[in-house]
Amino acid sequence: MSKYTDYGTPAKVSDKTITLEIDGTQITVPEGTSIMHAAMVGGVTVPKLCATDSLEPYGSCRLCLVEVEGRRGFPASCTTPVAEGIKVKTQTPKLAELRKGVMELYISDHPLDCLTCATNGDCELQDMAGAVGLREVRYGYDGENHLKSEKDTSNPYFQFDPSKCIVCSRCVRACEEVQGTFALTIQGRGFDSKVASGTENFLESECVSCGACVQACPTATLIEKSVIQHGVPEHSVTTTCAYCGVGCSFDAEMKGEQVVRMVPSKHGGANHGHSCVKGRFAWGYATHKDRITKPMIRKSIHDAWTEVSWDEAINYAASEIKRIQAKYGTESIGGITSSRCTNEEVYVTQKLIRAVFGTNNVDTCARVCHSPTGYGLKQTLGESAGTQTFDSVMHSDVIFVMGANPTDGHPVFGSQMKRRLRQGAKLIVADPRQIDLVSSPHIKADYHLKLRPGSNVALIAAISHVIVTEGLVNEAFVKERCEWDSFEVWRDFVAKPENSPEALSETLGVPAEDIRAAARLYATGGNAAIYYGLGVTEHSQGSTTVMGIANLAMATANVGREGVGVNPLRGQNNVQGSCDMGSMPHEFPGYRHVSDDATRALFESAWGRPLSKEPGLRIPNMLDQALAGNFKALYCVGEDIVQSDPNTQHVTHALEAMECVIVQDLFLNETAMYAHVFFPGASFLEKSGTFTNAERRVSPVRRVMTPKNGFEDWEVTAKLSSALGYPMHYKHASDILDEIAKLTPTFKGISFKKLDELGSVQWPCDDENPAGTPTMHIDEFVRGKGKFFITEYVPTTEKVNAKYPLILTTGRILSQYNVGAQTRRTDNVAWHPEDIIEIHPHDAEDRGINDGDWVGIASRAGETVLRAKITERVQPGVVYTTFHHPESGANVITTENSDWATNCPEFKVTAVQLTKVTQLSDWQRDYKQFSETQIDFAKNPRTEAKV
Ligand code: SF4
Ligand code: SF4
Ligand code: SF4
Ligand code: FES
Repeated sequence: MSKYTDYGTPAKVSDKTITLEIDGTQITVPEGTSIMHAAMVGGVTVPKLCATDSLEPYGSCRLCLVEVEGRRGFPASCTTPVAEGIKVKTQTPKLAELRKGVMELYISDHPLDCLTCATNGDCELQDMAGAVGLREVRYGYDGENHLKSEKDTSNPYFQFDPSKCIVCSRCVRACEEVQGTFALTIQGRGFDSKVASGTENFLESECVSCGACVQACPTATLIEKSVIQHGVPEHSVTTTCAYCGVGCSFDAEMKGEQVVRMVPSKHGGANHGHSCVKGRFAWGYATHKDRITKPMIRKSIHDAWTEVSWDEAINYAASEIKRIQAKYGTESIGGITSSRCTNEEVYVTQKLIRAVFGTNNVDTCARVCHSPTGYGLKQTLGESAGTQTFDSVMHSDVIFVMGANPTDGHPVFGSQMKRRLRQGAKLIVADPRQIDLVSSPHIKADYHLKLRPGSNVALIAAISHVIVTEGLVNEAFVKERCEWDSFEVWRDFVAKPENSPEALSETLGVPAEDIRAAARLYATGGNAAIYYGLGVTEHSQGSTTVMGIANLAMATANVGREGVGVNPLRGQNNVQGSCDMGSMPHEFPGYRHVSDDATRALFESAWGRPLSKEPGLRIPNMLDQALAGNFKALYCVGEDIVQSDPNTQHVTHALEAMECVIVQDLFLNETAMYAHVFFPGASFLEKSGTFTNAERRVSPVRRVMTPKNGFEDWEVTAKLSSALGYPMHYKHASDILDEIAKLTPTFKGISFKKLDELGSVQWPCDDENPAGTPTMHIDEFVRGKGKFFITEYVPTTEKVNAKYPLILTTGRILSQYNVGAQTRRTDNVAWHPEDIIEIHPHDAEDRGINDGDWVGIASRAGETVLRAKITERVQPGVVYTTFHHPESGANVITTENSDWATNCPEFKVTAVQLTKVTQLSDWQRDYKQFSETQIDFAKNPRTEAKV
């Protein structure tokens, strides 16, 4: 039996075994196993309807009855545990009669429209009717029945048809046990019992559209609308979600080239059969009419686009790169990769830039999210990655969530975390805002440290102070595993009175006693794990906080085993991978510095080109250099810096100053509006490769349909390389992965073949760890001894003042994904059609702002207008918004401030003022005009060359 059930909950496996007889066969199973499961182990299938292999047994349908010799009655095998020596019969004439009777009752109140039902051939009720041999139904529809019950079609993705419901409660239990939302109940009793969502319909309810209930439903009651539209799928291909850093595995169920539905894979190492609304349902963007599938070029961003052949586009881009380098020098160009790209695409792009462009001017969107994680964890622990598997959380006694919102940002892991919390783990949340985890059904944070934005380092210092001064350090661990000298310096630093909770309480806005209690809980509550997100990294001291978190874990011995660790919740699907693949200007794949002679020699020999030992430009430096007239061309693959980087005006002015901007993307994104060459990209459904999730899990991306543009993205990059005189001879993404494995020690054992065999692999994967490494730093840290760093709190220069008295902080929500280019082109807009600004009632009242009013938000960087939502989720003095819609201009107001070590922008702290307004901001009006023109240029391209 596997260590985990399908949904990652540790199975209650006993060491003691029981032997019983089922249908004459001796079967031995662990104590506590149900008779139904034991029968399954012995190859005997017992009819069932309310039981599934992923939910707790329920015992309501009475179809799984068995006979046990010497016992009276007919126990339900799904809820009856095995006992030593019992003799069970699963098939007898009496059982057959009873089961037929049960089925007859179900079918007598069920529409007999199997032939025209959307799930004909894929329905458990139909299967069970066949299995029990039901041939006739003696009771008609004449009596009371549910056949005229009204359908609920409010959810954009699935419908609820109560006339087909057998009230087995699988949906209710899936919502509770798997998703943890508790949106459904069984209302009423007996004949009147029915599934209810507590509101008028699903869309209005607490439902987050994860699809768990749809998957659990044994009938066509809860069914995907896409299945109704397209019919039952014909074949399936397992691939990996292209949205967030959880990296859920899905079976793309297909009819020819048409995706019928995406079903979360039970074998997925990260998701164990669960999903969220994005991966499960929001894949329609792949065939959205806005997709651009033909290459386009133009001389100026004020010109219309000209649609050209691939050869023309590639040759034009190559000639521009050569011209610009000849005129302005090698360093005048660079490239940006994206965490939406596969590992193979990122690898090939950085190879093109280093080996063919001849510069290290390559950066990635991790610059604006988790670059401090890479830096901070490398310094302290020796590896730029999280330490655990997601399943590790099921062994945690204390969960410390800092600056992360897992139920929105990493929903499937959020559900797993909630499962562990319902089992009794303690919860500390450090967040300026009341995220859902603080209080949700059956979960309440033990401590919500509602700190002021920008004070993370002070909080870590105060917690460390308590641990050090109250004797809670695990000195034996520190002595054995860490650099003792560095520990002593850190210990003496945090022990200073100015780092005490009492001294820092005012700065933090958190009562000292809460900090003390939370610190004691973290240090003494058993296995304690820290999960953090962009609320930690996107600060002027992001790297400092990451190092402070690692210090805490080392000091309390909470690293190196299951249930503990330092866990960055990586935002995008492949942010870990894009960093692993060397898309930072100072590092080759595998985090090896470009100035390291041996590493450079390795890549020079493999790539056959001399490589620069000078670190290249980071994204903000590229932009600054563009404005200074020194940076002239950019190859931007899958990234939208205009919408996702701070200080939008600065970004757009820098792009306007360049002579050639090449954008490779699915859509005319905001950056593409400033481009001169557009290479159409392929969606994740149209390509092969791998993504690496937040737990270092490398998972396969498999092509399920032909690329709409004709090529996978790595092929386009390879074509550009050829046009620049450096042919790349890969035939398939697997060839690129083989090269990565050859040149990157942590990937040494990873290949497509291995991924086919194992499903996924967590790096490091090498000769010592051929199946990968779920938990890192077990016996020693990757850097040898763990190193403590002093983390002095330096308040950000972004301070509130009379002109800008409020702090704006930003974040994401469940239904949308980052810049929203994909999710805005799906029915997910039903949940989040626009970005809004959350304001505390006191701040709203002071300014005469009511719910729904238009509000001007001004910072020293710029001004925009959003609709107000008055809520106590934010604290007084703090306002919050998301950045999923470009017209919102959330990054028009964020500033150029950034992390001292990595330049990660300080997205989480911007001093602003709010005023009630009646019209859009100047920026928004200009944006509207500019974007309408650009969209028109792309929709109506010329077909003859004008360049
Ligand atoms: S909707 Fe489906 S899963 Fe839920 S009770 Fe009805 S038949 Fe069972
Ligand atoms: S879709 Fe998910 S959240 Fe909504 S009712 Fe079903 S299980 Fe619950
Ligand atoms: S968005 Fe994240 S949590 Fe949702 S299905 Fe995709 S990988 Fe899983
Ligand atoms: S499957 Fe056992 S009672 Fe329903």
